[in-house]
Amino acid sequence: MTDADAASGSVGVVLVAAGSGSRLGADKPKAFVPIDEDPILLHAIYAVHGVQEVAALAIVAPPEWLEAAQELVDLHLGCPCFTTRVVAGGAERTDSVRAGLAALPDDVDIILVHDAARALTPVEVFERVIDAVGAGAAGAVPGIPVVDTVKTVDDRGIITGTPDRSRLRAVQTPQGFLADVLRGAYAGGLTATDDAALVELAGHDVVVVEGDPLAFKITAPEDLDRAARLVAEGA
Ligand code: CTP
Ligand code: MG
Repeated sequence: MTDADAASGSVGVVLVAAGSGSRLGADKPKAFVPIDEDPILLHAIYAVHGVQEVAALAIVAPPEWLEAAQELVDLHLGCPCFTTRVVAGGAERTDSVRAGLAALPDDVDIILVHDAARALTPVEVFERVIDAVGAGAAGAVPGIPVVDTVKTVDDRGIITGTPDRSRLRAVQTPQGFLADVLRGAYAGGLTATDDAALVELAGHDVVVVEGDPLAFKITAPEDLDRAARLVAEGA
């Protein structure tokens, strides 16, 4: 595929929402925990709906919650602008992404993988990732500068190094890739903490584009409080 093909190509989104949310500690899987009247997953879907290039969405939900996820789609999102499929996730995030990839049509040119837990991610972040891949990058991920000094440590907690902070980025999602590149990286059967790592391991260059503090991941109860405040303020 040429760069021009990618630039004009369609985008598929894998929205991973199959985690249990153990650190949030709610009585249901994290994606179904409300921020305001709407659950985390619905806020995440709203964000995807704001992205014009999207042609297909695969929502990956916990196996017991497929119907609940489908209901959210049906009740609130009669949008005919792209196809949406709800599929069951797996034990690890990597398994869930793999399930989502299998549910996307073969003909999407660019695939974004996005954490539903980053429910308030602005549309501009999606656009920056899509634009970078459309402009010829194999992959693009949003990142923000690291404010703390970061140390590496050994097994005893003794500091072994202090990486140059100006070279560090805290990366977020959506992470976007040429579809063939991402599918190829996942075919290797490896696991990693983010999708870019698998693509890096496969030997491709992945660029960092500007992220956004609003793309934070709802992980602990205080993150949910922060999200609720932001939504009340109109985020
Ligand atoms: N995820 C998933 N399948 C898994 C694990 C995680 O789809 N087996 C998704 C989560 O739903 C979330 C994103 O990956 O949207 C990031 O994961 P994380 O924030 O760690 O969510 P959980 O794994 O649910 O939370 P915890 O680690 O606290 O249990
Ligand atoms: Mg997790």
